[in-house]
Amino acid sequence: MALCLQDKVVLITGASSGIGKACAKTFAALGAKLILTARRLDRLTALAEELSAAHGVAVLPMALDVQDKDAVANAINSLAPEWAEIDVLINNAGLALDTTKLHEGNIDNWDTMLNTNVHGLLYMSRAVLPGMVARNRGHVINVGSVAGHDTYPNGNVYCATKHAVSALSKAMRLDLFDKAVRVSEVAPGAVHTEFSEVRWQDKARADAYYEGFEPLMAEDVADAIAYCATRPAHVDVSELVLFPTAQTSCHYLAKHT
Ligand SMILES: NC(=O)c1ccc[n+]([C@@H]2O[C@H](COP(=O)([O-])OP(=O)(O)OC[C@H]3O[C@@H](n4cnc5c(N)ncnc54)[C@H](OP(=O)(O)O)[C@@H]3O)[C@@H](O)[C@H]2O)c1
Repeated sequence: MALCLQDKVVLITGASSGIGKACAKTFAALGAKLILTARRLDRLTALAEELSAAHGVAVLPMALDVQDKDAVANAINSLAPEWAEIDVLINNAGLALDTTKLHEGNIDNWDTMLNTNVHGLLYMSRAVLPGMVARNRGHVINVGSVAGHDTYPNGNVYCATKHAVSALSKAMRLDLFDKAVRVSEVAPGAVHTEFSEVRWQDKARADAYYEGFEPLMAEDVADAIAYCATRPAHVDVSELVLFPTAQTSCHYLAKHT
């Protein structure tokens, strides 16, 4: 892997858990300066201390709810000069809530998924991209999902949000066609994180989901994201879809019980 992230400023949303946390570890090992955001500041602060000690990199933990457009704009606009020139934005914060038929769905859950996965990504991108455009360099990496390329029963609104992430990734690339700003979508299948626990609010159900097959680990996805970020400047990985070997689509998961 090309070591081209030394002292680059990398902002990760949803860095308190799962894929975002694994990205923080991977990018710190590559020498990047990290802005770590999520709502749970205690987790970010502990991670920042761990990564600074292990890799000697500067890490800025920041409490931020990506659903709050004013907070997002203020956070980016008030960055100190040494953090303000963001080289890589990883739009990772996201969640699924419940799995139900659309006609039985919980509308508050829909709002939270849309506000986080779609609006949050838009607010972050709207705040960070102007600087990248002005500098004519930068990279936005959107964490999509195989649920953005297919649908599955009772996944309706979550799938819709990830289809939006896929569409917005393509649209951003078009809007930036004459700029040296890259846009990548990384779309994983089943990853063993806190995702299913958040989705079902039921640890036993979440644990059972990951039994009987070998899911992707957060580190596998962080590795794919780092691959995109470490290509030479003239190479833009537009879309990277990765599955566990046991999974061939949203529907087909080979479980050995
Ligand atoms: N796990 C999978 O199977 C899978 C598959 C495909 C795609 N993905 C996608 O991967 C991304 C990361 O999920 P994960 O699997 O790593 O799950 P996770 O372990 O639950 O992590 C989700 C992260 O998102 C953050 N987050 C949630 N709502 C937020 C908000 N309103 N503002 C800021 N941060 C927020 C959480 O931090 P706080 O709670 O501290 O705010 C947490 O750090 C998501 O976009 C998800 O859709 C996951």
